Amino acid sequence: MTEHLSNTAEGLSRAASLLRDGALVAFPTETVYGLGADAGNDRAVARIYEAKGRPSFNPLIVHLADLDAVKALVEWSSEADAVAEAFWPGPLTLVLPLRPGAPVSKLVTAGLDTLAVRLPAAPVAQALLRETARPVAAPSANRSGHISPTRAEHVAASLGDRVDAILDGGPCSVGLESTILGLAGRPTLLRPGGITIEALSHVLGQRIAERHETDKISAPGQTRSHYAPNALVRLNAVDFEDGEARLGFGDVDCDLNLSPGEDLTEAAANLFEYLHRLDATGAARIAVSPIPHIGLGVAINDRLSRAAADR
Ligand code: TXA
Ligand code: MG
Repeated sequence: MTEHLSNTAEGLSRAASLLRDGALVAFPTETVYGLGADAGNDRAVARIYEAKGRPSFNPLIVHLADLDAVKALVEWSSEADAVAEAFWPGPLTLVLPLRPGAPVSKLVTAGLDTLAVRLPAAPVAQALLRETARPVAAPSANRSGHISPTRAEHVAASLGDRVDAILDGGPCSVGLESTILGLAGRPTLLRPGGITIEALSHVLGQRIAERHETDKISAPGQTRSHYAPNALVRLNAVDFEDGEARLGFGDVDCDLNLSPGEDLTEAAANLFEYLHRLDATGAARIAVSPIPHIGLGVAINDRLSRAAADR
């Protein structure tokens, strides 16, 4: 049976002790809910892959409470320093060279010599990480290929009894996964997300390369069909057709509106929750209004095009 924990001193302390004992604990961050396990415990990390039904070549992000804990695991650099100063804690993941001998399970890196690290901003995540006092590996807390969870109920619905405990911290404020920036070589955007590429290149004072679908590194949910609802998804819908569940943006007549006032931050926060809700109506198809391809719209369109990809 899954334990349902609340965001209280007792809930946090129970969640931390379960993590230290090798259990799987889902917890909220500002982006999405993560399915956490002690990153130094091979068995616990193996259970993440098992619970998600995830292809094991996909490496995981390690979540830490502070910068010192990060620097103990990866080779830090001046570029890392600049972006961390600007965006941490927050929805940004950095991929850096793994320190030789760092106490991280090889299952976390999938054998790569780099490690993805992140300092989440949500106070509940920070409190949990401080109390656990271990690096916590956590992918999004959903079955592989399904829509990412932005509420505790989404986690329960997707993972059921495969998770030992769920720490409920309410809805996630950003609602989209973190941006992943590769800093093991030339700065490269590995996944668009909560921090825009414009903001990153501004801070780094240089252009950031973008990873292409054909590149070899296996990165973020980079299988084309990902984030898939049961319903088919039709993008850039200017008109809606009969029988479609209508997901709008801006001044349109629809079932749910990502942001009537065309605010991309609000749209990102609503995206997964609204896809979950429209999917739950049992509609055969979800049609989505066009989303401007600027700022956070780039990350929103990335997730939507994966939701719409051929399966
Ligand atoms: O917002 C987020 O990032 C959420 C919350 C829970 O922190 N986590 C998340 O994890 O989205 P996940 O596992 O769903 O996506 C992480 C992606 C993986 O698909 C993986 O390919 C990429 O990060 N990744 C991890 N380590 C990497 C590495 N060393 N090199 C390149 N990509 C890496
Ligand atoms: Mg995911």
